[in-house]
Amino acid sequence: MRIVVADDADRVAQEAAGIVERFVSASESPALGLATGGTMEGLFAELVRRHRRRGLSFGAVDAYLLDEYVGLDRCDPNAYRSVVHRLFACHVDLGIGSLHGLDAQAPDLGAECTRYERKVRAASIGLQILGIGSNGHIAFNEPGTPFDSVTRVVELSRQTRGDNARFFPADHSVPVRAMTQGIATILAASELLLMACGAGKASAVARAVEGPINDSVPASAVQLHSNVTLLLDPPAAQGLSASSPVGGNQILA
Ligand code: PGA
Repeated sequence: MRIVVADDADRVAQEAAGIVERFVSASESPALGLATGGTMEGLFAELVRRHRRRGLSFGAVDAYLLDEYVGLDRCDPNAYRSVVHRLFACHVDLGIGSLHGLDAQAPDLGAECTRYERKVRAASIGLQILGIGSNGHIAFNEPGTPFDSVTRVVELSRQTRGDNARFFPADHSVPVRAMTQGIATILAASELLLMACGAGKASAVARAVEGPINDSVPASAVQLHSNVTLLLDPPAAQGLSASSPVGGNQILA
């Protein structure tokens, strides 16, 4: 695992955009796994900036979303497909039909999860971007999720709903259910890029990277993957042991 501690959240976004740019430019038909959440906003802005200023093209990319709320209309501004469209896809040259996600309004959500799991596996994600929840979740895989989990409908934890309430108007509650790629689905990607910013993530990051690998910290599953970059700002890194995080890690200040 490579651990990169950038100077601040802006630098985290720039470093992440650099990794995405290298991936997109090196591959003929890149399958890019996108995440959502506040941490991703800087990355999306930086990718849009590179597209506008330097012509970074997403024309050959197929992008796959990790998860989606159940219970929101497709056009709801908080539906993850809407978020990614608004912050990224509509500003770049991503092809029509190249932004893939879960349809939370499908008549049979279980069948929709099965369809999407097959689609993501067939696409063979080359680079999967991840955030991490304050409770250690990745995508919407909450603590207790088995590592062999695949795409499915889940209940969101109280902590996750509380954390995400800031995105919703005061008179709207955060949905209680979501659809999410499973941990096994995520680990099947060739490369993982996990981004975390802020002191609120420090404990989850430390437990994910240095703690035991078990389902009480879903993000600890990334220790099982052979090609992972963890990109942190200093507050998110503050729980890591300064001398030797875990064998083979690299800390760049
Ligand atoms: P955040 O969410 O970027 O909004 O903190 C990350 C996550 O829950 O995965």
